[in-house]
Amino acid sequence: MTIEQAREQVATLRQQLEEYGYQYYVLDQPVVSDAEYDQLMQQLIKLEQEFPELVSLDSPTQKVGGEPLPFFEKVEHLSPMLSLGNAFNEEDLREFDERVQKAAAGEPVRYVCELKIDGLAISLRYVDGLFTLGATRGDGTTGEDITSNLRTIRSIPLRLKEPISLEVRGEAFLPKKEFQRINEAKEANGEPLFANPRNAAAGSLRQLDPKLAAKRALDIFLYGLGEEDLQDTIESHTEGLNYLQQIGLKINPERRTVNSIEEVMEYIAYWQENRPNLGYEIDGIVIKVDDFALRRKMGTTIKVPRWAIAYKFPAEEAVTKLIDIEIRVGRTGAVTPTAILEPVQLAGTTVQRASLHNEDIIREKGIKLGDYVVVHKAGDIIPEIVAVKSEKRTGEERDFHMPTHCPACERELVRLEGEVALRCINPSCPAQSREAIIHFVSRGAMNIEGLGEKVAIQLFDEGLVKNVADLYYLQRDQLLQLERMGQKSVDKLLESLEKSKSNSLERVLFGLGIRFVGSKGAKILASHLETIDRLMEATEEDLVSLEEIGPKMAQSVVAYFEQSEARQLIERLRKAGVNLTYLGAKKKSEQIGDHFFAGKTVVLTGTLHTMSRKEAAEKLEVVGAEVTGSVSKNTDYLIAGEKAGSKLTKAEKLGVSVLTEEEFLEKMQV
Ligand code: IVH
Repeated sequence: MTIEQAREQVATLRQQLEEYGYQYYVLDQPVVSDAEYDQLMQQLIKLEQEFPELVSLDSPTQKVGGEPLPFFEKVEHLSPMLSLGNAFNEEDLREFDERVQKAAAGEPVRYVCELKIDGLAISLRYVDGLFTLGATRGDGTTGEDITSNLRTIRSIPLRLKEPISLEVRGEAFLPKKEFQRINEAKEANGEPLFANPRNAAAGSLRQLDPKLAAKRALDIFLYGLGEEDLQDTIESHTEGLNYLQQIGLKINPERRTVNSIEEVMEYIAYWQENRPNLGYEIDGIVIKVDDFALRRKMGTTIKVPRWAIAYKFPAEEAVTKLIDIEIRVGRTGAVTPTAILEPVQLAGTTVQRASLHNEDIIREKGIKLGDYVVVHKAGDIIPEIVAVKSEKRTGEERDFHMPTHCPACERELVRLEGEVALRCINPSCPAQSREAIIHFVSRGAMNIEGLGEKVAIQLFDEGLVKNVADLYYLQRDQLLQLERMGQKSVDKLLESLEKSKSNSLERVLFGLGIRFVGSKGAKILASHLETIDRLMEATEEDLVSLEEIGPKMAQSVVAYFEQSEARQLIERLRKAGVNLTYLGAKKKSEQIGDHFFAGKTVVLTGTLHTMSRKEAAEKLEVVGAEVTGSVSKNTDYLIAGEKAGSKLTKAEKLGVSVLTEEEFLEKMQV
């Protein structure tokens, strides 16, 4: 290929990837499958490797993160990054409204209400449409240049849809799920956990190695223009946000423009109630005057604008007594302390346990048994002890010490190099085996219905299941002898176990609980190697050559299958009839090529009654369909559940075949 041909191909690929990336990361409406996207990306990477002179900073390949930095440079913001005044109740809001109304002098006032994202304030500078600089807020005048980390955020376009120069402001954050994933990985590694998504976002963006930042699925919402930009052409915040959206930036869709402080209050009440349903944390609502002329008239103080205010949700904190500290041995042997609390109402739930993470944290916070402590709960995250009420001490409180030996098997605990957590390294520790079974049956792994944590513990404690393979050798009469297990629950349990035998390989792999192999890692391994036998034969080298598999995971997988116990376990699973092959995308056409949905592109919308959309998508993928997020002329079928909305309208417009849930179920049988 000549360089000219390569240049042309590179340009086409970039354009395609930019558009698909935009649909996926900014609009949350993927138009192509992940596989298709990855394939185009691979093509581009290959071309850029072959012709390094074609690499450019705005190429979608640059999202993986560049070289580590020695330190962050300081940057001065073009206009100051202001903070916001706070309102804590209705009275504060009415006072704010009065000040605004006074400045408006009888003209009607419009407010824009936005969610106050609990993340990190960020400024992005674009020059002629190219992303050139990204910075933290710092002290408002000077921040830190974290461009190389921000480049890795998928929803930050490296190039805008117009060649324009401007500075935009927004909030970078970690979605709740990603926050949980990171903390789970940290826990498995015995590293200290992040206290909340904001700290996790800040920690991710303030590390010097962009490749590490790239591994965290950070996201961003932009919420404003720099003070000077476009004020001559754009007259209101609503217009400004729409414009930012139009040029490819990610704006929060939940914003609302209203005409009175009463409507502001309705918006606040709605989100106070519904915030648990959001995929990210918010800590309040921001209310902004819409009209720029009125904003200019009101002006700013040194620190905050007079035309905006942040309503802060009441802190979700409560004080209660720490009764005891319980020690739990996790499935990787990490020993973690959990606080047992006097039950207390917090954010709509009764809290009686809180995570303490590790001994260092107990010491840092000065926690003693019998202390009154402040517990904090954000959204649906595990509650945490944030402080001790030392003024409430009576002198009866006792120091807490971590045990030196495993509470389950009495083996001496060790602290591995570089880890904070204590660990029981006895491979046959019963506490670890018990946790391993709980994990294997869990929803993310084998998803065995009717077999939750309680039943798993019961089976283990009764000695019926010592390892996960034993599950598949359970006898009906053994189960019937268990407490609280009637005919019906036994039937259901056996049926679910039977059903789980046909799960695809990645579920088994994840279920085995191999260190560092999360559900995503398991999927990558399964899709590339396709059978457990090939995986068991793979060397570390083979595994690291797969994209996204690092040396830690590779080493752990190889070490796992070197153990004869692990191999025996696999053989018993196989003998029981558990499927150990990958049933996803690659094999579909060969295996089940004649299924009604094989090779078809399907979109799901609305509420289904017999299963969740996610389950339906999984089933469709198993039979060889490709499930995408939005309807286009390439869609073969739209499966429309109840309350189907815009996707149905679009399908009808494009003449895409629409199936009801019943029709879908019927066709699935074929
Ligand atoms: S506007 C001049 N809008 O809250 C106006 N801020 O306490 C500047 N924040 O530093 C801020 N979501 O980090 C604005 N929709 C939103 C926001 C938001 C989160 C953060 C931002 C700011 C802090 C002020």
